[in-house]
Amino acid sequence: MKTKADFETKNSFLRDEVNNHIRLALGKESPQTLFEPMRYTLEAGGKRLRPVLLLLACQAVGGDYKDALDAAVAVELLHNFTLIHDDVMDNDDRRRGHPTVHRKWDTNVAILAGDGLVALSYRYLLRTKHPDLGRLGSLFSNTLLELCEGQAYDREFETERNVALKDYFKMIRKKTGALLSSCGELGALIGGEDEKSVIALKEFGLNLGIAFQIQDDLLDVTAEEEQLGKTWGSDIRQKKKTILLIHALNEASQKDREVIGQILAKPKVELRDVGDVKSVYQRAGTLASSSQMLRDHFELARKSLLSIDSPEGRNLLENFLDSVIHRTH
Ligand code: IPE
Ligand code: IPE
Ligand code: MG
Ligand code: MG
Ligand code: MG
Repeated sequence: MKTKADFETKNSFLRDEVNNHIRLALGKESPQTLFEPMRYTLEAGGKRLRPVLLLLACQAVGGDYKDALDAAVAVELLHNFTLIHDDVMDNDDRRRGHPTVHRKWDTNVAILAGDGLVALSYRYLLRTKHPDLGRLGSLFSNTLLELCEGQAYDREFETERNVALKDYFKMIRKKTGALLSSCGELGALIGGEDEKSVIALKEFGLNLGIAFQIQDDLLDVTAEEEQLGKTWGSDIRQKKKTILLIHALNEASQKDREVIGQILAKPKVELRDVGDVKSVYQRAGTLASSSQMLRDHFELARKSLLSIDSPEGRNLLENFLDSVIHRTH
């Protein structure tokens, strides 16, 4: 497993395995207003980053990925629940290149489809054969609660003008870091249970998750909507305190800080305001500074791998990390 091409082959094999299992998980037809939006979301695509991380973590500690497939399906189902509800909370129109569930159907359908996915995710997690299933279950529940806490901060910060960088990091550790961290931890627990590796892979997932959210914040303004499959500029329109906005509110010129202040004071941020904020970002060096923070966190993730004993295991996860670093959506 030395080359990038070898890794891509493995990655796409594991993704296919996950997708086949997800298809089985969502076979039920009725009630249609519950299962159709669940299938619609899962079948629209998605990078399958979390389940693949879980399976790779299992393999990296010497385990058989098949033992971790149910847990891998569980984390992807849970992730999809968060996306459906997140789109309601963020008032977004597009996800994975399609209308969001609450736009295609309505908010009640989105609430229920999300709830259904949580239930199904537990069903799959609990199918895992593991001597300490209780540990896996409580880890999963703690992750879900943390995710909700992160989402609550994310919403609270919309109406706060001065969000400190440390509070931003607290928020993204919870809303995004927690689940990726659990993917590393669950994979390691299912694969081998050597505590040193469990800690290393949990840490790897956390740092990767933090980096992943910074990258997501950047992509919100730097990627094309077509490529992103999500509503472009959504964070600015929702007054989200992303790493970009926090930088600009602290570092932009007095005049540019006033420009942002006036936009944030509006009851409704318009599409053309997004362009104005983006220009401030350019003048204030916001994109460069956030990209540096991003690189720092990817490097922290890479360092977390140093205590994985197996060189092949390390190599596997380094390749995975590189694939995330180079993502474009
Ligand atoms: C989006 O996650 C939500 C965040 C935590 C930023 P992904 O970018 O992994 O979404 P999909 O699963 O590939 O659609
Ligand atoms: C979402 O963060 C994190 C979740 C737990 C879903 P975002 O709101 O930035 O995710 P996207 O950009 O809508 O995918
Ligand atoms: Mg969102
Ligand atoms: Mg959100
Ligand atoms: Mg986002």
